[in-house]
Amino acid sequence: MKLAIIGQGYVGLTISAFAGEFFDVVGFDNNIDVVNRLNSGISHIEGVQDSILQGWIEEGRYKATADGNEISEADIVIIAVPTPLTEERNPDLHYIDSACKTIGQNLRKSALIINESTSFPGTIRNYIKPAIEKYSKRKLEHLYAISPERVDPGREDYNQKNTPRLYAGLTPEATAKTRDFYSTFCDNLVEVSSPEIAEAAKLFENTFRQVNIALVNELAQISHALGIDVRETLDAAGTKPYGFMKFAPSAGVGGHCIPVDPSYLADVAEKAGVEATFIKRANEVNLDMPKYIARRIEIDNGGSVKGKKVLVVGVAYKPNVADTRETPAELLIDVLQDSGAVVSWNDPVVGTWHGTESTPLSGADIAVVVTKHDVVAPEDILKSAPYVFDTTGKVKGAVQL
Ligand SMILES: NC(=O)c1ccc[n+]([C@@H]2O[C@H](COP(=O)([O-])OP(=O)(O)OC[C@H]3O[C@@H](n4cnc5c(N)ncnc54)[C@H](O)[C@@H]3O)[C@@H](O)[C@H]2O)c1
Repeated sequence: MKLAIIGQGYVGLTISAFAGEFFDVVGFDNNIDVVNRLNSGISHIEGVQDSILQGWIEEGRYKATADGNEISEADIVIIAVPTPLTEERNPDLHYIDSACKTIGQNLRKSALIINESTSFPGTIRNYIKPAIEKYSKRKLEHLYAISPERVDPGREDYNQKNTPRLYAGLTPEATAKTRDFYSTFCDNLVEVSSPEIAEAAKLFENTFRQVNIALVNELAQISHALGIDVRETLDAAGTKPYGFMKFAPSAGVGGHCIPVDPSYLADVAEKAGVEATFIKRANEVNLDMPKYIARRIEIDNGGSVKGKKVLVVGVAYKPNVADTRETPAELLIDVLQDSGAVVSWNDPVVGTWHGTESTPLSGADIAVVVTKHDVVAPEDILKSAPYVFDTTGKVKGAVQL
């Protein structure tokens, strides 16, 4: 069986690594640098070891390509391309459209086409299928299915094998073939009654996190105003054995999923005549956190950070990964710079970001911890500046969010 995976990023390459044991995998990516690196056995994704990639390449089971022709004989095609937001924070399906073009123009036989990219209910039925048919010059009857990806990069306890996987096809045959495919490398498959249920469930999972993170960020602000320690309050609430789930306050939400996916749900809700009030408000609260943090820092530092050397510690969106997509550090840096601070950043895991290098963890007037990686010692952070503001709760002795 030949498997083609469109998009060799976090999701696509991770699946390639798992599926390489059972299928001949072609990883199609339109970024030629990514393709060249992958073909020389170098993975750019945490969790995908170079040795695994090299093993599949040596056995002839994996090849990356930017040539659409190479997917033409695939039996199964997985779509794993980005689904970001437009400037106006609306769903941006242009990568999906381009993936459909590659598939439509190149597939020479009927295949099972599965979307793993996150998108709103109705995407496989009303968008992907018609787009592939539009781009295809041949009259091919493909099977279509959805299986939203739930991978959490950097996580070791849950992976492709043991994370329950939702799936549904547009037809019973598509559903059955999707089950056969994933059962080769996933232990726990959960069939749902329609693709729309799987698509909606994925969006709701991340919306649930987004809204709860906003709620706890609001609690952090309330607690500070009341002179109460928010983390002790949360620990106390967390002793209830039922009906409570603990979320931690932070500088905001980051990554490709939590800040983005809820807006896909809000968009489809509004098109259906329902106002997604919680989602919108949660977005506002999370996006406002950098401003709130900058205000707190200003108040603690004589009312202004103008001309002060401020070091932002940790610019990845979460600990122990190099991913900076949608990182709240970016908004915080903007706000601090707008207030006249001279801002630099330190993050040994990220290394290079926006063409600048991580600076040493020392010599600042103010340090603000956005993300605390395991390799960065709290003592070193405390020594980096006379005033340290910690949004993570991991640097004891610093001023806490
Ligand atoms: N990263 C995660 O943790 C995660 C988890 C669950 C779901 N998802 C979803 O999975 C999808 C993919 O996310 P990702 O994190 O893997 O993205 P990514 O940015 O890591 O990788 C996407 C890859 O697709 C390539 N690409 C873009 N357009 C292409 C095209 N037309 N043809 C071929 N390749 C193309 C890019 O060059 C890139 O290498 C998104 O919908 C995302 O929301 C991501």
